[in-house]
Amino acid sequence: MLATFVPAVGWSQDTPDYYRQNCMNCHTIGGGRLTGPDLKDVGKRRDAEWLIGFMQNPKAVVDSGDAYAAKLVEESRGVVMPIAPGMTRYRAEQIIKLIEAESKLEKSQFQGVQISNKPFTEQDRIHGREIFLGRQKLKKGGTACNACHSMHDLAALGGGRLGPDLTRVYERLKGRKALSAWLMAPATETMQPVFKNHPLEAEEIHALAAYFEASASQTEADASVNRIAFLMMGLAVAGAIVFLFDALWKGRFYGVRRPLLEAGVSAVHLGHKSTPASTPSTLAAATGESNSPRGHS
Ligand code: HEC
Ligand code: HEC
Repeated sequence: MLATFVPAVGWSQDTPDYYRQNCMNCHTIGGGRLTGPDLKDVGKRRDAEWLIGFMQNPKAVVDSGDAYAAKLVEESRGVVMPIAPGMTRYRAEQIIKLIEAESKLEKSQFQGVQISNKPFTEQDRIHGREIFLGRQKLKKGGTACNACHSMHDLAALGGGRLGPDLTRVYERLKGRKALSAWLMAPATETMQPVFKNHPLEAEEIHALAAYFEASASQTEADASVNRIAFLMMGLAVAGAIVFLFDALWKGRFYGVRRPLLEAGVSAVHLGHKSTPASTPSTLAAATGESNSPRGHS
């Protein structure tokens, strides 16, 4: 009887799992806002058609000039909701039913997320930086953040360019609770495939949040220092390349010439049997003699 009853309620069996994996890190149902608004009773704020359209392509709705969407984005400090992987019209309909049912409960299973509220220590910040840089391996095997992200305090060229710079992300994602929840299940197209089966551990999220909190107070001046460092590094690399070529070229020069000279010198010395083939000083003198016809023979 239960089996026939469940489909009648509305959503397919995997909908709560889908919601948990793709939405819960940015939205609570009845627990206040995280990166995105609290979805409790969202069906009373907008009709189903609008919600379905928005879920399938949030950016398109925002770009269309929809005033309600514009206000939501403003309240979210410019973060535009990403398209959830595998989102379809059918999925969206299922989710609306799930949210509606969960909104009626006194305490939804999606009311909130457990976030540590231990104070951040200097130790945490250092640990967070080590994790970011990949010097401390992620316990579940995720990819180090600096493969795709840069930070104000990474040496120039030290961070990846695929993702945004995360120096101010603590501020951008509205502080500890929202940022930590976000990191529990990064639901963006690029990060989800990497972290879905290799989630960050609570202790790693705590350390990263400590590092991001500290970096958020960095001033813009750091960015320009970085640009100068970048320039200096570019010059240093250019200089190094010039020296390298110089060294390589010399090596090539001697590489051809030295055996020829050695053969020549030992031929000269063949008459005087007891003398060694050559001495470093005669060789050096002979090599310096750049127009010697023997060198080109
Ligand atoms: C990266 C964080 C993030 C994820 C993940 C995310 N959202 Fe959102 N969502 C937002 C933000 C931010 C807004 C506010 C509009 C904007 O800025 O784009 C929003 C707005 C919404 C709204 C409109 C809310 C209102 O008050 O009218 C709905 C509905 C919604 N999201 C549903 C979902 C569903 C369902 C999922 C999972 C499939 C999801 N979101 C995943 C961040 C997210
Ligand atoms: C495979 C590349 C990759 C790796 C590895 C990666 N990220 Fe990301 N991340 C991205 C991309 C790309 C974005 C931008 C959203 C998108 O398109 O997916 C992003 C977005 C973010 C955001 C949201 C930024 C914003 O302003 O909205 C945060 C926070 C974040 N990443 C944190 C991390 C942390 C912490 C790690 C390491 C544990 C990490 N990322 C590892 C590629 C990556």
